[in-house]
Amino acid sequence: MACILSQMASSRFYCLTVLFFLAFLNLNLFASATIVSHDGRAITIDGKRRVLISGSIHYPRSTAEMWPDLIKKAKDGGLDAIETYVFWNAHEPTRRQYDFNGNLDLIRFIKTVQAEGLYAVLRIGPYVCAEWNYGGFPVWLHNLPGVELRTANQVFMDEMQNFTTLIVDMMKQENLFASQGGPIIIAQVENEYGNVMSSYGAAGKAYIDWCAYMADSLDIGVPWIMCQQSDAPEPMINTCNGWYCDSFTPNNPNSPKMWTENWTGWFKSWGGKDPHRTAEDVAFSVARFFQTGGTFQNYYMYHGGTNFGRTAGGPYITTSYDYDAPLDEFGNLNQPKWGHLKQLHEVLHSIEETLTHGNISTIDYHNSVTATIYATEKGSSCFLGNANSTSDATIDLHGTEYTVPAWSVSILPDCQNVAYNTAKVKTQTSVMIKKKNQAEDEPSSLKWSWRPENTDDTARQGRGQFQAKQLLDQKAAANDSSDYLWYMTSVNLKKEDPIWSDNMTIRINGSGHILHAYVNGKYIGSQWAKNGVFSYIFEKNVKLKPGRNLISLLSATVGLQNYGPMFDLIQTGILAPVELVGYKGDERIVKDLSAHKWSYKIGLHGLDNQLYSLDSSHASKWQEHNLPTNRMMTWYKTTFKAPLGKYPVVLDMDGMGKGFAWVNGHNIGRYWPSFLAEEDGCSPQACDYRGPYDNNKCVTNCGKPTQRWYHVPRSFMENDVNTLILFEEFGGNPARVNFQTITVGSVSGSGIEGDTIELSCQGQPISAIEFASFGDPQGTTGSFVKGACEGSKDALSIIQKACVGKETCKIEVSKDVFGSTNCDSSIVNTLTVEALC
Ligand code: GAL
Repeated sequence: MACILSQMASSRFYCLTVLFFLAFLNLNLFASATIVSHDGRAITIDGKRRVLISGSIHYPRSTAEMWPDLIKKAKDGGLDAIETYVFWNAHEPTRRQYDFNGNLDLIRFIKTVQAEGLYAVLRIGPYVCAEWNYGGFPVWLHNLPGVELRTANQVFMDEMQNFTTLIVDMMKQENLFASQGGPIIIAQVENEYGNVMSSYGAAGKAYIDWCAYMADSLDIGVPWIMCQQSDAPEPMINTCNGWYCDSFTPNNPNSPKMWTENWTGWFKSWGGKDPHRTAEDVAFSVARFFQTGGTFQNYYMYHGGTNFGRTAGGPYITTSYDYDAPLDEFGNLNQPKWGHLKQLHEVLHSIEETLTHGNISTIDYHNSVTATIYATEKGSSCFLGNANSTSDATIDLHGTEYTVPAWSVSILPDCQNVAYNTAKVKTQTSVMIKKKNQAEDEPSSLKWSWRPENTDDTARQGRGQFQAKQLLDQKAAANDSSDYLWYMTSVNLKKEDPIWSDNMTIRINGSGHILHAYVNGKYIGSQWAKNGVFSYIFEKNVKLKPGRNLISLLSATVGLQNYGPMFDLIQTGILAPVELVGYKGDERIVKDLSAHKWSYKIGLHGLDNQLYSLDSSHASKWQEHNLPTNRMMTWYKTTFKAPLGKYPVVLDMDGMGKGFAWVNGHNIGRYWPSFLAEEDGCSPQACDYRGPYDNNKCVTNCGKPTQRWYHVPRSFMENDVNTLILFEEFGGNPARVNFQTITVGSVSGSGIEGDTIELSCQGQPISAIEFASFGDPQGTTGSFVKGACEGSKDALSIIQKACVGKETCKIEVSKDVFGSTNCDSSIVNTLTVEALC
């Protein structure tokens, strides 16, 4: 720029020369195409067959400020590529009006991946599922006349093609496909259509053929994939999704064996428990996949992140999308998962050549025990797999005996020495803790003001914005512009109406989301789905009067359905019938109000008036006196000081009911801490990694608030004063609401002789050693105890010297360091250390 501004002729000449030179360099640097091709064995990049490890990070589930750190940690974790979906409804919220700002800046995200030297996998969809609102479809699409989604319907296909082309063109314009020298090596069209295709009949098959044709015609110069599509037409590559994909084979012999979603954990629903998948089991699934000829593997998720605003899918997906991924919701290393997988990636990459070129032979030892040998002229690499969930195996390979623990895979890069076993975790375990806001003494320092949500014209007067003589599907009627829709009708009851009785009720058929009912301006009750059953009948006694009676029903959706055959047609809001019932002995007189004239109002006044926004013109009417608690439909406001330091910030919503929270106008998502997770299913015992995983195994948080803490990205806050605004729908008490930071509290690790234990407090010094023992220590993190035998030197003081005051320390596990032990010969001498950060 300085060049261009320069006015001096001589320097202008100099500058032009420099610019030409730079442009020339640029061409060479960025325009050189990377050739991505494939055969039945592997993806080939610039002539080299690759073992590719990728991980999903969805750009809108974090902030642009977080991306460099997340991507760097992914690279440090041994990833080659970052995968993301593209979120159509976020980018095109209104037809032909696009948004690529802030955390929707897809180009910036891909360029951040590129800057870190990683490849990118772009799953355009544009249907994505992803526990994202409506699976990523904009609701206006559903409202287009004549449209049918995900099938051979011209209206839909035109829109899909329009958006897909737009994304492809944006990428091309920035030279982001590998064929143009960019990082994108693979793209995806549709998503798991094969799982639901049969419901669409012949039109489904025609649609998937069209998807393939349309994608191919976009000429992106890198391979296209279709996940879970066992009839994927060439040149589409059919790929696998699941917790295990070792037995998957693509339909086309020219397609390499690829795994697009290795679920590192699972998502969480309101009322559900916290799912966990062990590091051992994830590593086992990956190693087995590569043992059985896999070539590309993507972690779904590598970083799950947060469903900000109204982006959570449904029904009932929580705001946290942590997923128990290797990087937690806030971007911290989830240890030992991150580190255990990093070590696996190092070993797999070290044998890339053999894996992608070697002749494969297998020895079957029965009882789910196998050895796989990849042999090239230069050398061989072996996998010893034991898929038995209870018994360890002893395998004789080329005359040497190896013990392979149950449900594990050993990798021997030279077919002699075990470099890695999936069940032996040699990475530290970290325990994260929350710390109080050091900037002020919360929660007592938070001074709250409040104002009621104005429900006069709806609950009391029944005034709406439009009318219909039927009960409308909420998502279509509200066009997804709000969670809230008022359904209002009046019913004229004559004195002589046969319905009159002492026992009269209103019966409402709900779609599973939330209902708050008011009759003649009086609140009579609420209902919502619990225990995963998404339909209910609300029935409550009502006092009606002769003449006009007003019925006002406020429906609140909690994320629109994102998965299933024809999920897009599932109705939300109040379903028919809505009835008044008069009970007279055995007799029931029913008045069906479904076809009455209903008035509708989308949203709430406070939302319309943007009370959450700092520059709302209605900002003045907040009051400080008579702060209510447990009052429905109430707005609360406070200011706070951002917690000191750099650690991630969470908002503790303990005591609140359900609603939305905004920090400086940023919607941090739905909160609902009053919804407790199911009581049953958590086990006090440590989770057994052995045996097939599913999302009901290894759950925690039974009976506690489904989600108590909510991520407030640092970039949402200013250094001095910040504003927090809550809309409380059910009623709560803000007295305990406070901000905290999340950081590593303690770290622990174990190793046997020959290992090196590395402990790191991730940027903070190690402050103390809680436990150290070389011998036969027992227990788990937080409750280690010494065993019956011990090394002759004082392990504790040795480790204190080596670690305290340092951010990271490495300890070699050996008798030289810790002295010989008095352990029985059957015991493997083990060092266990636990340190406080
Ligand atoms: C898959 C889907 C993903 C995600 C995942 C569960 O079926 O392709 O988008 O929804 O399930 O987290």
